[in-house]
Amino acid sequence: MPEQSVLNLFDPVPAHTSERLGNQRVRVAVLVSGNGSNLQSIIDHIEAGKLNASIACVISNREDAFALERAKKHQLPAFYLNHRSFPDRMSFDAAVLEIVREHAVELVVLAGFNRILSTVLLDAFPLAILNIHPALLPAFPGNQAQRLALQHGVKIAGCTVHFVDSGTDTGPIIAQAAVPVLDNDTEETLSRRILREEHRIYPGVLRLFTEGRIRVEGRRVFISPGEQDSNDFLECPRF
Ligand code: GRF
Repeated sequence: MPEQSVLNLFDPVPAHTSERLGNQRVRVAVLVSGNGSNLQSIIDHIEAGKLNASIACVISNREDAFALERAKKHQLPAFYLNHRSFPDRMSFDAAVLEIVREHAVELVVLAGFNRILSTVLLDAFPLAILNIHPALLPAFPGNQAQRLALQHGVKIAGCTVHFVDSGTDTGPIIAQAAVPVLDNDTEETLSRRILREEHRIYPGVLRLFTEGRIRVEGRRVFISPGEQDSNDFLECPRF
């Protein structure tokens, strides 16, 4: 990870707000590599009329990702790009960017996408790429977050939605939800408990984005007040 880009996060940067004009649906690209349960929760929220967004395209770097089946089932434009057939990270990202541009995407959502992004995508979508991570960042970045949480014996685990920067799960944090770690937890039971929260907070954050209520100052993210109850998802369920 280039040192400079990490340092940049701490530099004063102009406040940025996800402002939107009018009431059009925000066009979202969802990047996936696996099961796609977060993709499904976003689809469900859109179809239930709880999210003023449309999924413009779904892109997977794995041909066998079940997320692609989910996309097809809901008649969403779905693409498979094999990262191994590109000489480097930047050329793969350029191919992703081409699809994203062709679909007039405004917000890129990583949902279980197992690739680190290069400047090609990061520069094209400043503060408009989100990720969800199954840990309370900055604890346990990278893969195996749930396994590491169990190995460290933490009592509280959870998930984090954050902006994506050039590091691994290092971008400014937008929302988090906590879950207890139980004595008899396995990686699987803990992951399931965390996923339930992911499915709640990711669409919630997308909604904030569509409503232009996310403001970023350096590393800190501020949510402006919305209608009654619209911040409910930010509150942690009681253990
Ligand atoms: C989730 O745990 C997410 O936090 C992590 O990858 C997993 C993806 O799950 N980034 P799914 O493919 O959305 O079911």
